[in-house]
Amino acid sequence: MDKDFTIGILTSGGDSPGMNPCIRAVVRTASASNAQVMGVMDGYEGLINGEFRPLGVRDVGGILQRGGTILQTRRSARFLESHYQREAIRKMNSVGMDGLIVVGGEGSLKGAHALAGQGVKVVGIPASIDNDVWGTDMSIGVDTAMNTIVEAVDKLRDTASSHGRAFLIETMGRGCGYLAVMAGIVCGAEMVLIPEVPVTVEEVAKAVADAYRRGKTHAIIVVAEGASVKTTGLAAALDAEDVGFTTRVTILGHIQRGGSPTAFDRMLASRLGVKAVQALLSGESDVMVGLQGRNVELIPLAEVTAKSRTVSAEYIEMARMLAR
Ligand code: F6P
Repeated sequence: MDKDFTIGILTSGGDSPGMNPCIRAVVRTASASNAQVMGVMDGYEGLINGEFRPLGVRDVGGILQRGGTILQTRRSARFLESHYQREAIRKMNSVGMDGLIVVGGEGSLKGAHALAGQGVKVVGIPASIDNDVWGTDMSIGVDTAMNTIVEAVDKLRDTASSHGRAFLIETMGRGCGYLAVMAGIVCGAEMVLIPEVPVTVEEVAKAVADAYRRGKTHAIIVVAEGASVKTTGLAAALDAEDVGFTTRVTILGHIQRGGSPTAFDRMLASRLGVKAVQALLSGESDVMVGLQGRNVELIPLAEVTAKSRTVSAEYIEMARMLAR
């Protein structure tokens, strides 16, 4: 370990497809820049516990196409406490870690900002299927999750159409309706229910009954998990109201988080990984690398953590208009 600069890297929060190509890009860019990389296992939990393992260029071979994360990930509630942050810094210092790259979603980037506030050199990389991270057009994993959803909805539409049914299909996304709205547009859903636009069960029932009267052969309703109406309760209400279609529910759940990353996610993960290393080595800290238009930019973590990205009104309107 005679290289100049040691970069720690951890993956944190919900896993997302593309974390592995991101780790690979970090390790190989560091190697090309005479820096070395120390993998931190189990997210912030591993940082607190000092679970480190050196990562060389050969250690990241064959992971480009694999979903999940070779470093494992955790949600760490105790890392919110400054006492544990200080413990983590002590562990980093004990192995001579000069800087840290945090790959994760909103909560993980808050942890990164907190560490930077304690004097650690940190660069964040947005990775979450929810696409709710401020400052980047896309987070790592979103595209793969979208493609998984598209495949599932296309299949469900076949059976919905054959049986003349309404299908409620629940997508992930926490408080953000991005996945649901995009699925609505690209899968031709009759309706999309998202946290950003609250609705009542009665309004949904009326809209589904109306779709039946207009002669639709089926109804696909994409329900974001954070929507104002809950999927199972809504299904019971639709059946009770006799909207024309019988109703079935599919909760897509964690299949949205798995699978081999798409070409887009591999490319995004590689670009963000390269830029994160370059940023750290050129002295940047307390920033996130994010995709803005066609470019990778540095955005202050103070800004990223103060805001949340929500789905754009333009897409919400497009999903509504194309459903007629
Ligand atoms: O943030 C990613 C996400 O998959 C959300 O969409 C979802 O609400 C949550 O994580 C589920 O978390 P867990 O895997 O801990 O159940």
